[in-house]
Amino acid sequence: MNWLRSAPGIMRGVYWRIAAVLALVGLSYIVFRLISPSFPEIYPGAIFFPAVLLAALLGGMWAGIAATILSVLLSDYLIFAPVGSFTGKSPSSVLFLTLYMVYGTSISLLIEGLNRYRRRLAIAHEEAALARERSRAEEESRRIAFQREQLRALADGLEKAREEERTRVARDLHDDIGQILTAVKMDLMWIDRQVSMGEKEVHRRLESAVELINEGAQSVRKICSGLRPAILDDLGLGPAMEWQTNEFSSRTGIACRTTLPPTKLGLSTNCASAFFRIFQECLTNIGRHAHARTVDVSLFREGEEVVMIVQDDGEGIRDIARAPSLGILGMKERAQSCGGELLIDSSVGRGTAVMLRIPVHSNLSKEDGDARIDR
Ligand SMILES: Nc1ncnc2c1ncn2[C@@H]1O[C@H](COP(=O)(O)OP(=O)(O)OP(=O)(O)O)[C@@H](O)[C@H]1O
Ligand SMILES: [Mg+2]
Repeated sequence: MNWLRSAPGIMRGVYWRIAAVLALVGLSYIVFRLISPSFPEIYPGAIFFPAVLLAALLGGMWAGIAATILSVLLSDYLIFAPVGSFTGKSPSSVLFLTLYMVYGTSISLLIEGLNRYRRRLAIAHEEAALARERSRAEEESRRIAFQREQLRALADGLEKAREEERTRVARDLHDDIGQILTAVKMDLMWIDRQVSMGEKEVHRRLESAVELINEGAQSVRKICSGLRPAILDDLGLGPAMEWQTNEFSSRTGIACRTTLPPTKLGLSTNCASAFFRIFQECLTNIGRHAHARTVDVSLFREGEEVVMIVQDDGEGIRDIARAPSLGILGMKERAQSCGGELLIDSSVGRGTAVMLRIPVHSNLSKEDGDARIDR
């Protein structure tokens, strides 16, 4: 039955097609039998032909041909014996039957062709719609990529501005407040020297004031280092990381082992800042979440890249897929803005390792046009 199944038409199932052919031709036969006594001259083809047409439309070519053959058989008063037979038919009747067959088959073929054309047209329409959809999606993804790039550039700009602002505030704090405190301290010490030895209470108060000023100066230094450690600009990334590690270790009691380069690594200011901020976030995360006993910190140059590894022996990240919140996202963004990458390897109970790689001479790392390269 494959021929009937594969033929194009409105009806899909083979049994539906057979049923349609039988019903249409059967109906025509009943009509023919009903009206033929009143109109004995009527040509049977006129009654059966709509059935052939409808069968071809609904079921396709083979349904049309099947309806043609069936209607020929029926219209000749059931030609099979004992009801009827071809014997004794007039040549004109045979000619009519033959013509009817040719006619029905041609119409079926024509409808088949039309159906195929209609389908091909529908497929072409679908393909065109798909192509339009694809090009719209491509356009959309290009637009998103462009916007992403713009956002990244904006974030880079903001980060740079923030870093510059921190440096400026730290310098102002250090220079202005630091100088004022030193001047006040010297004045107080001068007053202390002028006051006679008998004024014990005045001496005590002056000493306490100098002590307070010392504490104030220390606080200012601490705040300045928190904003941006001068050591990062003055001595470079390695010493700044060493200093930060010592701070972290004395604050948290977690032992830290460091392998830091004695020489400078050739990073731009921007990328040195990115390294340092990522390192700070790694230590903050360890202090906050890891419950580690020791931390290993290493920084080295590998070919044209600078690599930093911070490894702790803590609890590890429980659900690394759900982990990225702002801290980890920020680290990744910073790494990307310098043309590098950040990888996190963590398993529960076995600690966490964060690896950062940044190319020394990446275009992005020099984008700021900073002449003070070689940190
Ligand atoms: N070294 C680590 N050891 C164990 N878990 C960690 C470690 N680092 C990160 N995590 C886990 O990953 C999560 C995401 O870290 P992330 O730094 O992105 O966010 P956060 O520290 O919770 O908040 P913030 O946005 O303030 O940094 C943390 O909540 C923590 O569960
Ligand atoms: Mg964090």
